[in-house]
Amino acid sequence: MEELENVVTLENSTIVIFGASGDLTHRKLIPALYHLYENGMLPKDFAILGVSRTEFSDQTFREKMQASLVKNEKHQCDALKSFSEHLYFESLNTSDVSVYASLKARLSELNKKHQTGGNTVYYLSTPPSLYGVIPECLAAHGLNDESDGWKNLIIEKPFGYDLDSAKSLDKQIHASFQEHQIYRIDHYLGKETVQNLLVLRFSNAMFEPLWNHNYIDHVEITSAEFLGVEERGGYYDDAGAVRDMFQNHLLQVLAMVGMEPPSVINADSMRDEVVKVMQCFRPLSEDCLKNNLVLGQYTASMVRGQSLPGYREEAGVADDSRTETYVGLKMFIDNWRWAGVPFYVRTGKRLPTRVTEVVIHFKTTPHPVFGINAPENKLIIRIQPDEGILLSFGLKKPGSGFEAKEVSMDFHYQDLEESNMLTAYERLIHDSMKSDATLFARTDAVEACWKFVQPMLDYKENPEHLFGYAAGTWGPKEADSILVNDGRKWRFPCKNLTDTDYCEL
Ligand code: BG6
Repeated sequence: MEELENVVTLENSTIVIFGASGDLTHRKLIPALYHLYENGMLPKDFAILGVSRTEFSDQTFREKMQASLVKNEKHQCDALKSFSEHLYFESLNTSDVSVYASLKARLSELNKKHQTGGNTVYYLSTPPSLYGVIPECLAAHGLNDESDGWKNLIIEKPFGYDLDSAKSLDKQIHASFQEHQIYRIDHYLGKETVQNLLVLRFSNAMFEPLWNHNYIDHVEITSAEFLGVEERGGYYDDAGAVRDMFQNHLLQVLAMVGMEPPSVINADSMRDEVVKVMQCFRPLSEDCLKNNLVLGQYTASMVRGQSLPGYREEAGVADDSRTETYVGLKMFIDNWRWAGVPFYVRTGKRLPTRVTEVVIHFKTTPHPVFGINAPENKLIIRIQPDEGILLSFGLKKPGSGFEAKEVSMDFHYQDLEESNMLTAYERLIHDSMKSDATLFARTDAVEACWKFVQPMLDYKENPEHLFGYAAGTWGPKEADSILVNDGRKWRFPCKNLTDTDYCEL
C-alpha cells in the first residue's frame, strides 16, 4: 500500500470499539479505518477489537464488516482481506465490571500478537448511559494505566444532556482518565472545510484586518438538512435540534469564525482560543430568547412530488411530541473584535436542501456613490456540499452610467489537484491514534457551550415556544422576524431555490 506524503507514521496500537454491533461502527468507523488502511495511514501493525453484548465470533464480525464495506463502496479485494485479518470481537456485558478481566486478557493477547506496546484507543460508540460506566470499569482493571503504552478514550456526542449532567459525566470520567487521554468527538471539527476556516483567516493577510466589527455587518451560519430524523426518532425525540446540532457542531463552527489566532496550532493553544471566545457568548436572558430564538417542528408536506411525513409521524417519535427540529437564534460575542455584530445561526431537518455555510456580510461603503442599491460584499464559506469559497462584490455594469452589479469569484475544493480529502471520521480517528487532541473538544469548551445553551433548553420546555413548518421549507415563518426586526433577511443558500420555495404551512 502506498503511503500518502506528509503522513506521520503511527505507533502500533489496538483500537477497541465499544458498541461494535451498532450502526455507527459499520457505517462510519470501520469504513474510516479501512480508508486509512488503504491509504497506508494506519500503523505497521494494529488490531481492531469490537466489543458488545452481541454474541459474534471474530469470523462473524469480519464477515459482517466486509459485507458492509463491499455493499457501500468499491474496494480492492486483497486489501479488504488483509484489513479484516486485523479485526477481532469480544462479547461482553460492558456495564459489568467483573467481565473486564476477560477483556484485559484478550487485549494482552492482541497486544503481543500485533506488538502494540499497550497503546490503545477506546472508542465509546455506545448509548450515552454507558459513557461514565465504561471508563470506570476499564480503570478498575488498570486498563487506563499509561505505564505500558498510551490509552486514549474517544467519546461520541452527546456529551451530557444539559449543563448539570455534562458536568457530572465529566467528573465521573475524570475519576479514571486524565484530560489528555479524553477525546470528545465533534465530527464537524474533522471536516476539512471547518479546519479551513482557520487557514483562510490566519494565513491570508487580506482577511484578518477586515475580520471585526469595523467591517463586518453580520454573520450567518446555516446548517440545513433535507433529511428528516430517519431511523433515529427515538434518540432525536429526546434530544431535539438544540442538543443534536446547535450545542456542539454549530457553536464549534461559530468559535472557528470568531476566535483569535492561536500563536501556534497545537491542542493547547488552539483550544485555549476556542474556549476564550465561547466564554464571550452573550448570556441568553428570558427577554432576549423571546425576541431572538425560534424553534420549529416540521409537518407533513409534498416536496418536489414526494409526500413527506410530519415529524410526529416518524418512527419512535411521540404523537404529541413538542421536540424542535429547527432552531434559529441571533446571538452576540461580547468582546472587542465582535462588539455589536449579530450572528444569526440556524439549523433544521427537512429544509429544502442539504447545505452548511458561513456567510460573512461586510458593511456597505460609507457613502453610496453608485446609488443605494450597490451590492454588499459577502464571503460565503461553503462547508458542505460543494465545499468551497465564494467572494461576491460589485462591478460596473457594462453600458452607460455607473451602475454596480454583483459578481463573484468562486473556488471549489473539487478543482484542487490534491483533493484526496479525508472524511471527518478518518481525520479524527487518525489524530486520536497519534494522540493529537487539537480537533477534539476540551472539557472547558464543552461546559461553556452547555452553559450558553442551558437557557435555550429551559425555554423549549414551554410548549408555546414551538412553531410548525412544512417539510421542505426554510423553517417557521416566525424565524424571519429575528432578522426582519434588524432590517435583514436570511440568505437562501441554494442557487436554484427562491422565495417561492418558501411555502406556507
Ligand atoms: C449528527 C447529528 O451529529 O450530525 C445528526 O446527530 C445530523 O442528526 C448530523 O444529521 C449531520 O452531520 P453532517 O456531517 O451530515 O452535516
